[in-house]
Amino acid sequence: EANQLVIAIDGQSSSGKSTLAKAIAKALGLVHIDSGAMYRALTLYAMRYWGDKLTQLSAQELEGWLQTQYAHMQISFVKDPQTQQNQTHLNQELVESEIRTMEVSNRVSKIAQLASVRTFLIDQQRLLAAKGGVVMDGRDIGSNVLPNAQIKLFVTTSIHTRVQRRLEELKITDPNVTYQEVEANLKARDFDDENRSLAPLIQADDAMVIKNEGLTKEEVLEQAMKYIQKALLN
Ligand code: CDP
Ligand code: CDP
Repeated sequence: EANQLVIAIDGQSSSGKSTLAKAIAKALGLVHIDSGAMYRALTLYAMRYWGDKLTQLSAQELEGWLQTQYAHMQISFVKDPQTQQNQTHLNQELVESEIRTMEVSNRVSKIAQLASVRTFLIDQQRLLAAKGGVVMDGRDIGSNVLPNAQIKLFVTTSIHTRVQRRLEELKITDPNVTYQEVEANLKARDFDDENRSLAPLIQADDAMVIKNEGLTKEEVLEQAMKYIQKALLN
């Protein structure tokens, strides 16, 4: 049944996971959960409190402070009535744009390495998927958060294309952002995400690779839908 379906989509930064997840959710009537948005919202919360001092804290100090904050940190998704897309909220405040800035992107992967951060967010991600009817995208969804997902996709795109696509997005709100800056951020996050000890970015054994290079969004969706339909018949 499509309504009970759980689909996991993983891949490197800016590989096209969220775009594909949104399109699949729309096509199959599923809810899209962007797990990366949760790590970004938590990072924004810490940045607002600590400001520039955030980089000076040790992992231990940061985790100690976070333990006192988890009870006050509510991250939620609210469907926008116009676009029908989920919008990220932090303590009821709409933070969808603010979590996408370079400032947050430059901090998020260090915070996503912390054990208590992952436990806090992964528990919520599993609850959000518990009733089914969900497409969730991230880094460890197929391999760790939802290992029983019926469909697992792993999106791949070259670094050059990923940088160019992300640059185009960021330029809309920040005309000063450069190719070099975006490239450095994507490479640093790929490295951190692939090499951390807790649930690193990895292609699950049973994941289908979706190549998102030189294709339009529509072509990528078609490729994924064909695979999903075939997999569901088996
Ligand atoms: O959109 P983009 O691919 O640039 O990143 P994102 O999906 O918003 O994720 C931001 C960061 O959150 C990643 O670089 C990871 O450090 C972390 N993340 C994670 O650790 N596990 C996930 N399931 C999703 C994101
Ligand atoms: O979620 P993730 O960070 O993996 O990537 P995304 O934010 O979904 O996609 C990054 C950018 O690539 C977006 O601006 C998309 O519009 C664009 N794009 C795509 O996802 N797929 C294509 N076939 C072409 C462009």
